[in-house]
Amino acid sequence: GFTPIEPEARDAQTPALDLTVRMRRNRRADWTRRMVRENVVTTDDLIWPMFVMDGDNARQPVASMPGVERLSVDLIAREAARAAALNIPCIALFPYTNPSLRDETGSEALNADNLVCRAIRAIKKEAPDIGVLCDVALDPFTSHGHDGLIKDGVILNDESVAVLVRQALVQAEAGCDIIAPSDMMDGRVGAIRKALDHAGFLDVSIMAYAAKYASAFYGPFRDAVGSAKTLSGDKRTYQMDPGNSDEALREVALDIAEGADMIMVKPGMPYLDIVRRVKETFGMPTFAYQVSGEYAMIMAAVQNGWLDGERAMMESIIGFKRAGCDGVLTYFAPRVAEKLKHQS
Ligand code: PBG
Repeated sequence: GFTPIEPEARDAQTPALDLTVRMRRNRRADWTRRMVRENVVTTDDLIWPMFVMDGDNARQPVASMPGVERLSVDLIAREAARAAALNIPCIALFPYTNPSLRDETGSEALNADNLVCRAIRAIKKEAPDIGVLCDVALDPFTSHGHDGLIKDGVILNDESVAVLVRQALVQAEAGCDIIAPSDMMDGRVGAIRKALDHAGFLDVSIMAYAAKYASAFYGPFRDAVGSAKTLSGDKRTYQMDPGNSDEALREVALDIAEGADMIMVKPGMPYLDIVRRVKETFGMPTFAYQVSGEYAMIMAAVQNGWLDGERAMMESIIGFKRAGCDGVLTYFAPRVAEKLKHQS
């Protein structure tokens, strides 16, 4: 007959419950838990966002992102080599542009020798086998901190797309592998794909920030790239309303139709329902960005002794996997990779 296995030693006084199913049997030891685990995090799931600044052998902590620094180009290249050694497949670059170089139209974005382009070239020299992803948006370059061109307080769509296309070409020319438009203008993915193809960059990919919400959680990032103080107003006329979910599917469908190779949802943790719907609806390579504010939130609690940092970090990343992500852009990437390395 069928003899149930006792999950644990029992007090002989207490009669056993007549249970056919005892869920705890699969949880009783580390080896059983590992056997039945549905999702795992590997280094292949990580994209590491980094902040690049001017200077030589220079680093500056970002106050609202404990453990994150802006690095000069030489140090970024060294960190990229470390990322490659840790088997992290891809890094994402964001510039802290000197305020004197910021203007109304973000013209520094089109300078083939700007910080991002110099960083790409240095990284390709020192770590040729790691993927390099670059944000396409004007906010690190404009005096007003918006992602596009602005006239009488209105963000112009089609005029912005024309500039963003040129920014994408400059980055591709410098050696960028993945163009990631984060500006949320309509039609930019299609316009960028067309321009890349026309210029012969058939192998340069597009990861579309497809469902990007107007979020409070970008605050520390804006400190890091120096757009927090200058940003006039908010980004609600182009980034999505946090109340919407069906609209995210329409955004994703459009970006796929326009030629996106990969899809991103952003922010991450408050939007895992969107990740799940996007993954189930389209079956595309789907990524989420665990943004600066999510990182800051966890780190602030850790610094207060309120959370176990390592466990909170790993649990947050497995949450992305469970929701259906193929990968996560996360400031925890090097620490996750170090932890995984020491586990195996
Ligand atoms: C630029 C951009 C932002 C982020 C990534 N690309 C800020 C914004 O849209 O205001 C945020 C990333 C983070 O918070 O970590 N368009």
